[in-house]
Amino acid sequence: MRSDMDDWDITTSVGSTALFVAAARTLAGREDDPLVVDPLAELFLRAAGGEWALLADPDPELTRDHILRSADFGTSFRAHIAGRTRYLDDYLKAAREAGIGQVVILAAGLDARAYRLDCLEGAVVYELDRPQVLDFKRETLAAAGVEPLADRREVAVDLREEWLNALRDKGFDPSMPTAWLVEGLLIYITPEAQDQLFGTLDSASAAGSRAAIEQMTPLPRETYTELAAADQDGDEAKSDWARLIYNEPRSDAAQWFSERGWDAERTGLAEYLRAAGRTLPATEEGTGHVGAPLVNLVTVVRR
Ligand SMILES: C[S@@+](CC[C@H](N)C(=O)[O-])C[C@H]1O[C@@H](n2cnc3c(N)ncnc32)[C@H](O)[C@@H]1O
Repeated sequence: MRSDMDDWDITTSVGSTALFVAAARTLAGREDDPLVVDPLAELFLRAAGGEWALLADPDPELTRDHILRSADFGTSFRAHIAGRTRYLDDYLKAAREAGIGQVVILAAGLDARAYRLDCLEGAVVYELDRPQVLDFKRETLAAAGVEPLADRREVAVDLREEWLNALRDKGFDPSMPTAWLVEGLLIYITPEAQDQLFGTLDSASAAGSRAAIEQMTPLPRETYTELAAADQDGDEAKSDWARLIYNEPRSDAAQWFSERGWDAERTGLAEYLRAAGRTLPATEEGTGHVGAPLVNLVTVVRR
């Protein structure tokens, strides 16, 4: 169970979700005609060791029974992560083409865009996360001799608290337009912390700023209860995850920002994937199952 003051490193609690996403990016990138390839993601898996390192191995037999390889959840989650990664890569390219030079990645985790995306060359990229997550990422990539393409600046904070001062101390200039990125974060903070975070982002955004936000609709109560009890059937990965999230009603990002002077565009992840020619497992379609049908990708632009 979560608490307001809990903390983690890269292999525990919420920190391990960054590795889980890196593993999904690795596996998705090895599929035929991938939507996105993130060659750095597997470096993190190898550095974390154990089962994570086995997932990085090109031999799928070693992790045949892993939840990320399962036909229902695994297929859906890999598509989810590939879709959102591609959407957000394209969002950053568009922001750079529009002349934005300041990028803030909230809950950066093992997002290696500052090292991976050519479009970020010449930009300042602020990465916010817990200190031990940022340490793991920097140390892993440095050990592999991988240098950032952007002017990358780490900001070790707790996003449930006040963090704007720490960002400003690293050089962030709120009078300049910013491209914010909020991926894989909101379900791990309370609805109140989410509103506070949106308020901070709104208060620090000059005209022309934009934000891309991934938001999942809360799971139907029955689905959540089922997930939380999955360990009784030996499926601990699902129940561990259910205990990390705040599955509560919360402000809708598109609506929240459009009421405060931003133009909002919401894209359903399932619709985005279909448009990209990807199909989801049949069990996911139209059901309240966890996965792509519940996820929206929202882009907002400050007028
Ligand atoms: C699912 S991972 C997503 C990482 C990255 N955005 C991605 O999509 O690859 C969640 C990340 O949120 C970070 N996180 C969650 N709550 C946080 C908080 N209160 N303060 C700072 N970071 C937080 C975790 O440390 C973790 O790196």
